[in-house]
Amino acid sequence: MTDLRLPHLYDRVSRIIPAPDWMLFEDDIAAILDLKREKNAVILAHNYQTPEIFHGVADIVGDSLALARKAVEVDAEVIVLAGVHFMAETAKLLNPGKTVLIPDTQAGCSLADSITAEDIALLREAHPGVPVVTYVNTSAAVKAASDICCTSGNAVRVVESLGVPKVLMIPDEYLARNVARETGVEIVAWKGRCEVHELFTAEEVRGLRESWPGVTVLAHPECPPEVVAEADFSGSTAVMSDFVGTRKPARVVLLTECSMSDNVALDHPDVEFIRPCNLCPHMKRISLRNIREALEQGRHEVSVDPAIADDARRAVERMLAV
Ligand code: 13P
Ligand code: SF4
Repeated sequence: MTDLRLPHLYDRVSRIIPAPDWMLFEDDIAAILDLKREKNAVILAHNYQTPEIFHGVADIVGDSLALARKAVEVDAEVIVLAGVHFMAETAKLLNPGKTVLIPDTQAGCSLADSITAEDIALLREAHPGVPVVTYVNTSAAVKAASDICCTSGNAVRVVESLGVPKVLMIPDEYLARNVARETGVEIVAWKGRCEVHELFTAEEVRGLRESWPGVTVLAHPECPPEVVAEADFSGSTAVMSDFVGTRKPARVVLLTECSMSDNVALDHPDVEFIRPCNLCPHMKRISLRNIREALEQGRHEVSVDPAIADDARRAVERMLAV
C-alpha cells in the first residue's frame, strides 16, 4: 500500500479494485486531476462508469436527470462527459457557451439509434394533437421534434404534468409500458429497446429469489414490464442508489448495468450485492485513458446544429421545469 501514489483515492475503491490493477490506473488518474485544474474542467460521470472513473476522477456523478440538472450549474469552462453521446449533447444544449467533450464519439445508445426526427413526424401525422414525450436517450434532432423530454427518474411526473388522456412516448417501449401502468394514461409506444435491460427476464428474477433468499430486487424501468412486475421496486439509477442508502436492504440485486452495483456497493459496505452482470458496450467505451486524451487534446468537442438547438433545448428545459 505504501507504494501507491494516490492512497487516499484507493481507499474508496479498494474493496473492488485489486491494488496491482489500481497501480496501472494511477498515472492516468494523477494526470487527469492535474489537467482538470489546468484547463478549468469538470468531469460529469454517469452511474454506469467503472469505479476508477466514478470514484477516482469524477466531480459530479448521477443518473441522466441529475447530470442534466447539474450541467446547468457547472461553473467550469470545460465539461467532460463520461457517459454516452446523448448525455454530452444534453450538457451542450444546456451550456451552449461551454466546451463539452466526449472521450469517444462512438459511445452511443441502442435507444437513441432506434428513432429519427422523420419517424416522429410520421407518428404525429398518425396521432394528430397527441403530445410527444421523448426519453433523453435520443439525439438532439429527435428532442427538437418533441414537446417535452423525460428521464427514467421523472417519466411518471412528466406524463402526469401534461394532464392529457393520451401521449406518444418514445423511443423505449418498455419504459412507456411501465409508465402507462403507473399513470393510467394511454401511451402510444415505439419499438426501441435498451440492449442491456431487455436481457433481464422474469424467470431470472424468480431464480435469483430462489438462490438468494430474502433478496430485494430493484429494476430499472427500461426492463421488460414482466421483470418490473416481479421486482420489489423500480426506479432510475439514482433512485435505486438512494433506495439502497435509505432502506439498507441486507441483500440486494440491481437489475441494471454491471458497474452500477460496484459503485453503489463501495458506498454501502454493509449491504450484500448479488450481481448478475449485463454490460453496456457504449458506456464501456469510456476509459481513464481516453478521458485523459480528451483533456490533453480538447477532443471530441460536442456541437449541436444551430437549426435544431433551440427546439431541443426547449424540450429539455420544459422537462427540468416539471
Ligand atoms: P438513468 O437515467 O436511470 O441513469 O438511465 C440512463 C440509462 O442509460 C439507463 O440505461
Ligand atoms: Fe443506452 Fe441501454 Fe447503454 Fe443506457 S444501458 S446507454 S439505455 S444502451
